[in-house]
Amino acid sequence: MKVENLRELLVGELRDLYSAETQLTKALPKVAKHASESGLKQAIEHHLKETENHVKRLDQVFERLHQIPKGKTCEGMKGLIAEADERLKDGGDHATLDAGIIADAQRVEHYEISAYGSARTFANLLGEHDAVRLLEETLKEEKAADMKLNQLAENINIAAKAA
Ligand SMILES: [Fe+2]
Repeated sequence: MKVENLRELLVGELRDLYSAETQLTKALPKVAKHASESGLKQAIEHHLKETENHVKRLDQVFERLHQIPKGKTCEGMKGLIAEADERLKDGGDHATLDAGIIADAQRVEHYEISAYGSARTFANLLGEHDAVRLLEETLKEEKAADMKLNQLAENINIAAKAA
């Protein structure tokens, strides 16, 4: 998409995020099913609920900007999900697979944190304060999810090492 100004760039980025979050709502149930450690399973299920809410928040952002969310596929998220899917399909030792699931989930979180950070900055420069507030709420949850994964990895990685 040819972009002529910051507003068009923001809308494009938001459409990409909308696609990313929608893809995630479909992918996460399978990841939760394959996670063995109960804390990890719970964290993924919790983040699925948050992700459904992230889609709703993006809907609100599009409303504020008088735009529609459709029209883009996030190829980055598609690739991340495809790789995670392959890992689940390959299977293996439970703790090791859990450690791999965390690695994949953190890739996803970092991708989203970066995308929301840019979108928030663009929205701020454009004076779209409602959009900024909504994007920051989600950004905070993505960062918290990433921190939670760091915590879970501490024990899970050690369990994987023992396998
Ligand atoms: Fe999200």
